[in-house]
Amino acid sequence: MISMCGIIACVSKEKIPILKTILNSLKKLEYRGYDSVGVAVIDDSLFIQKEPGKIDDVAKNINVNGIFAKVAIGHTRWATHGKPTQKNAHPHSDCTNSIALVHNGIIENYLELKKELLAKGHVFQSETDTEIIAHLLEEELKETHDFFDAFKTMIKKIKGTYAIAVVSKSDPEKIFLAKKDSPLIIGVGKSQNFAASDIPAILEYTRDAIILHDGEIAVLTAESVYIERNNVPIEPKVVKVLWSPEMAQKRGYPHFMLKEIYEQPIALRNTLDIPETELLNAAQTIVDAENIIFIASGTSYHATLHAKNYLIRHLKKPIYSVIASEYDSLKSLVDDTTLLIPVSQSGETMDVIRALNDLKERKANTLAISNVYQSTVARLANHVIYTQAGPEIGVAATKTYTSQVAVLMLLSYTASFLNGSLEQSEYHKYLEKIRKIPVMVEKNILNSELQARQLAQKIKIAESSFYLARGQSIPTAMEGALKMKEIAYIHAESYPAGESKHGPIALVSENFPVFFVAPRDETEKKILGNIEEMKARGANIILVTEAGSVAIPRADTTFILPKMTLTIERAINLIIPLQLVAYYTAVERGYDPDKPRNLAKTVTVD
Ligand code: M6R
Repeated sequence: MISMCGIIACVSKEKIPILKTILNSLKKLEYRGYDSVGVAVIDDSLFIQKEPGKIDDVAKNINVNGIFAKVAIGHTRWATHGKPTQKNAHPHSDCTNSIALVHNGIIENYLELKKELLAKGHVFQSETDTEIIAHLLEEELKETHDFFDAFKTMIKKIKGTYAIAVVSKSDPEKIFLAKKDSPLIIGVGKSQNFAASDIPAILEYTRDAIILHDGEIAVLTAESVYIERNNVPIEPKVVKVLWSPEMAQKRGYPHFMLKEIYEQPIALRNTLDIPETELLNAAQTIVDAENIIFIASGTSYHATLHAKNYLIRHLKKPIYSVIASEYDSLKSLVDDTTLLIPVSQSGETMDVIRALNDLKERKANTLAISNVYQSTVARLANHVIYTQAGPEIGVAATKTYTSQVAVLMLLSYTASFLNGSLEQSEYHKYLEKIRKIPVMVEKNILNSELQARQLAQKIKIAESSFYLARGQSIPTAMEGALKMKEIAYIHAESYPAGESKHGPIALVSENFPVFFVAPRDETEKKILGNIEEMKARGANIILVTEAGSVAIPRADTTFILPKMTLTIERAINLIIPLQLVAYYTAVERGYDPDKPRNLAKTVTVD
């Protein structure tokens, strides 16, 4: 059983209605998984409640206000193997019901450990890998009466990835933590401390955080944080989190996704405001490298394609974008002259981490782009640029995507300027235009909203759709199709428009929605022919274009943006109507766009 989940733990000096805190924090982690939910509270006894379902549904069966205690843990789960049943939900406990733990990760050697534990008479309640941790601890406690010693011995025995929080009746005012390859942070509060998978979970209670690193184990009490690695104590380094709790709330929007679409102007403004030396240094690494490999998954991969396509033309050296899970094909190209650019919103995507770890061994330089401070990907790289999009809760990436595009294109222009392929005066004109992008995006969202809503009502019955583009807009078509697929569950296929006649067009019949991303660049006239081909077969033509486009009269629905000239302007603006259409189509079809089925925000399994 593999899990990809969110964990939370809280220890308080006074007794508080602790499940209120735990469930409130879990809500902020629901994006990490929402198959099942569970909590454990240590008071005079150990109380565990867990059920399949989403947090709000499960919370109805929990006495949220009636339980006063000092220590509790919670878990929200996303299962990839096995069913999300009550028994498989976390927390898990031992045979004596004295220990409770939550876990995010995979215990790779759990089958052999389970065999040994079964031989010693342990009885298992679930099919999970996680449960063996509770029984291992129970076993170790037979040898020592110190729970921390038992915890350390247990950690040495397990192999795999983990963020673990454990509570025990034998040491009831402490929380025991361990981290390897799965994210875990500590929140330092006033007479209250926390541990969580991610920062939004603690923001309502504290903005002082400690980022745990791989191989570290920790013990929290209400007023202390103890961390050690290899039996050597480590001085905890507290960092101030700049995200405010409000940034992780819906603020009146019906869904996080819509709120995050609307936050794009501010996310872009903050992201584009990179200190000059940071930008120049990062761009210089691009110029210095002999070849460059972008590594990313999903939406982040689409963001890299914009930069790759631009840089290939302007730097005239080998530049690749690789889907992180397929990095192996490029391995032989990597050496100490290579620059690897991993791009990951969360910085915790396992495919990206694995690729980076493996390729880094070939002595390549690394420049990470991440939205999460001190994320694993950020920490693995030699240089980091953070997108400043703030927390993104909707599973479908929106504001983090346009922020990634912004930073990648700004870097690309700066690298072209540094290597002489873009003249200084041109570069300054570009920067001037880039400064205006947040305002353009603000207008674009407002202008597109109503039309996106109306279009969603028409296409909500579609089973399938195409997203076509040519040249530099192909990544935008790919991203638009991914949005439609993942939240509205309408099959959406993106294709280079010129290629669609080589097969996909066979699917087109009366009213089949075909989205064309067709800016007024060098592809404007050519794509007109592709529009006609689709129109001749009765397709419903949806055009995202710029004012004055020759294609406008041929479309059934048109999103008309102002005339643009730069790739960065187009890459950021043309996707916005497509985000809105996907969002409203999901809503029209009765789905929750924030929690698409079968998906989790951060994919920490490979
Ligand atoms: O956190 P990352 O940027 O590494 O995530 C990569 C993908 O899992 C992510 O972009 C995914 O495709 C989103 N669901 C897209 O909306």
